[in-house]
Amino acid sequence: MSMRNLGRAATLAASLVAVAGLASAQSPNLGKKITEADIQQWDTAILPDGTGLPPGSGTFAQGAKVYAEKCQSCHAEGGKGGGAPGAGALIGGGPLNAINTPKTIKNYYAYATTVFDYIRRGMPYNSPRSLPDNEVYAVTAYILGLNKLIGEKDVMDAKTLPQVKMPNQDNFIMPYPDRI
Ligand code: HEC
Repeated sequence: MSMRNLGRAATLAASLVAVAGLASAQSPNLGKKITEADIQQWDTAILPDGTGLPPGSGTFAQGAKVYAEKCQSCHAEGGKGGGAPGAGALIGGGPLNAINTPKTIKNYYAYATTVFDYIRRGMPYNSPRSLPDNEVYAVTAYILGLNKLIGEKDVMDAKTLPQVKMPNQDNFIMPYPDRI
């Protein structure tokens, strides 16, 4: 590089630094501060131990009604699946001993609270977040009951749901327990 080009490069570098300095000093001044109430609407995560579960309850029988009205059109009768593209089976599932075995609630989910969380945030697929919490508890009880993971008379609520033991739970192994 000639001396003149070197000089130009130095000037360019200096002006880039100046522009960067200007940008960080100003804020775009867009948007508005999010309120606590706004955050709460989206802060719906439920932990395996039941932290975050709302008040309310539901049973298998109540869930059967919700299912018939709001789920069966896609997941088919009794949760067999295949009523609509992508709407898989909500019941059964073989042992997970091959890479291509389909994962299901029964053979894969580690925690029953995940069933509740998933349904509350994502189902019905065409109208997510539309179910009242009692209906989410009820349809969760229905699916767990169909899978014989709870009895048909069991009531699901914030206390009982985290106590349901899922068959695959012990196969989720923390590779580095000392890093938790
Ligand atoms: C319009 C069709 C449709 C309706 C209605 C519907 N679902 Fe689904 N459901 C789907 C699809 C599609 C998927 C897969 C979504 C994906 O993989 O992203 C799914 C996935 C699920 C899963 C996850 C299954 C798994 O193996 O992880 C659950 C649980 C579920 N639905 C429950 C329900 C319940 C309960 C209702 C009724 C309240 C319902 N769905 C209504 C289409 C539907």
